[in-house]
Amino acid sequence: MNNNKSLLLFILCLIVFSILASCGKQSVVDTNFGLVIHGGAGTISRDRLSPEQEQNYRAKLEQALRIGYDVLAAGGTSLDAVEEAIVILEDSPLFNAGKGAVFASNGTNELDASIMVGKTLQAGAVSGVKQIKNPIKAARLVMEKSPHVLLYGDGAETFARGHGLEFVDQSYFYTERRWQSLQKARAKEQQTEPDKHGTVGVVALDKHGNLTAGTSTGGLTNKRFGRIGDSPIIGAGNYADNRTCAISATGTGEFFMRTVCGYAISARMEFGDVSLQTAAEDVIHNEIGRLGGTGGVIGIDKSGNMTMVFNTSGMYRGYMMSDGQPVIKIFAD
Ligand code: GLY
Repeated sequence: MNNNKSLLLFILCLIVFSILASCGKQSVVDTNFGLVIHGGAGTISRDRLSPEQEQNYRAKLEQALRIGYDVLAAGGTSLDAVEEAIVILEDSPLFNAGKGAVFASNGTNELDASIMVGKTLQAGAVSGVKQIKNPIKAARLVMEKSPHVLLYGDGAETFARGHGLEFVDQSYFYTERRWQSLQKARAKEQQTEPDKHGTVGVVALDKHGNLTAGTSTGGLTNKRFGRIGDSPIIGAGNYADNRTCAISATGTGEFFMRTVCGYAISARMEFGDVSLQTAAEDVIHNEIGRLGGTGGVIGIDKSGNMTMVFNTSGMYRGYMMSDGQPVIKIFAD
């Protein structure tokens, strides 16, 4: 009798264990995962970058990749991976986002950011914010805690303050290099200039099969104050749809808005049945290039294929996929 009871107990344990194991499998589908990042595209060549500067860029890009990768490898969401990786880049003076943001024509810093999740097509963005330390966090708050997609200026800041985000004085965004870029652009008859150390973006695919895209920028040096670029415009500088891909763009935003760059790549994949690489090359080289626009995109698709396409001499970029090997590139080769 005791033996029978033990056997029964053993079988029950086996059943319970199998059920628990199969539940676990449903929540984490261990498939391809990874992330792709950029730190801006532009006139970037070996003769303009000292070995020390190059090393600094490589180290910061790798740090951001590793932060995002760790989230993904632990079974976390692509949303968390994108946000955490972008915070690293926003906190660095090297890139035109957060701390290193460029100056508008009136000497202020006006920051834009957006985030989008491919599973639900939910999105959030802020534009023209001046004191939020990490605009990507504000973009996520807009997505998760408001019924809106894009909040601008004072309204965005009041909203972010109400949700406890960290605020800084505008002097936090002062860097001598960006200030000198403004003086140079002003001297060249008020031209706006895409900064060659530009906008940042991260796209990621997590183990659950979900895509997220995030983008953050200070915009263009010497832009008219009040100007809004492509980075906070969903479908232009940032887009994610689990059926196709996640895209983040960098470059002269007006061209990426006019060609609806992020959605244009996704739509080619969805309706034209072409690969991410083909779609991204077509939009960057044929659409944006044809209009005279410069810049690039990073993308990752639902199967874990990735792309990094640009029509400038270089783009700070990198990726880290399921194999755990970070790859960083700067120049065209
Ligand atoms: N792509 C960044 C901007 O134009 O604002």
